[in-house]
Amino acid sequence: MNQQKVYLSDELREYLVKLPDIDIDQLVDVWSQPLPESFRVNTLKLPEKHILERLRNKNIRFKKIPWTRYGYILEENYEIGVSLEHMLGLIYIQGPVSMAPVEVLDPKPGEIVLDMCAAPGSKSTQIAQLMEGRGVLVANDPSIERCKALSSNLQKFGVLNVVVTTLDGRAFPKMVGEFFDKVLVDAPCSSLGIISKDWSVGKNWTLKHAKRLSRLQNQLLKAAFDVLKPGGVLVYSTCTLTVEENEMVVNNLIESREDAVVEKIYLDGLRYREGIIDYDGLKMREEIKNTVRIYPYHNNAEGFYIAKIVKKV
Ligand SMILES: C[S@@+](CC[C@H](N)C(=O)[O-])C[C@H]1O[C@@H](n2cnc3c(N)ncnc32)[C@H](O)[C@@H]1O
Repeated sequence: MNQQKVYLSDELREYLVKLPDIDIDQLVDVWSQPLPESFRVNTLKLPEKHILERLRNKNIRFKKIPWTRYGYILEENYEIGVSLEHMLGLIYIQGPVSMAPVEVLDPKPGEIVLDMCAAPGSKSTQIAQLMEGRGVLVANDPSIERCKALSSNLQKFGVLNVVVTTLDGRAFPKMVGEFFDKVLVDAPCSSLGIISKDWSVGKNWTLKHAKRLSRLQNQLLKAAFDVLKPGGVLVYSTCTLTVEENEMVVNNLIESREDAVVEKIYLDGLRYREGIIDYDGLKMREEIKNTVRIYPYHNNAEGFYIAKIVKKV
């Protein structure tokens, strides 16, 4: 039987073919299928091996995701979302590539960390887990509706050292100076990397909307950099593929902040291509090559873009 293929608007197709080194047929194939599910075990509640043992006792088969601590991918279908372990907050369902930005941020116990665009909390719960209950996590999102899910997920996960705030991320520099050891900006974006979860994105995407988001992303990233301590680490991520929302945003930051340095990213076993530096007549700084552009067919998972920026001491 022929599998139904995702529909992409003409505008999106025309946009994608202009990206260097992209395979549209493979992209459409991956987008047209449901992706395997993955989860993170919650070591704030129980040791990893106890949680895995509970899952194995239910004959759930899974394998380790190499680029992230505590992440596993299901090897066959299982309704893990209605399992007792999920209801108890012993596991968190999250895409395998979505776990990568926090690995790059690498939060440590005792640090002061800001998750600027935090709801519904996949990455906040992951950050909190790596902080092991020490230090402070500020989980921020201006959407009150989405903050309900954020608060409930943090509570279910057993996170105690967190403050939930509901600010526009751009307001942080008015409230604090260079205050945070680490900041994550997992920005609102045009979501091309997760079309397999929502086919309507492929039909409704417009460059105009992506450019509008790009303006907000530029402002958020600059605000995030301005509240970072010297020597601090800032990670910028999106689940989309446009250059306007990714490389151009990071390039604008380093053009406007001379103490910003884009560092190379190391993630075991994750396939990706380097950031684009030559696009549509625009030449970006060479160090943008240090950022990573992950297409859905690279890992049979979500598409993402990740940049690691350090503030010079
Ligand atoms: C990609 S989602 C974040 C997903 C979240 N990091 C996670 O892993 O669960 C982007 C979030 O940015 C928030 N957002 C939109 N405008 C914002 C702004 N001006 N400042 C901060 N966050 C904003 C949205 O409400 C949305 O929840």
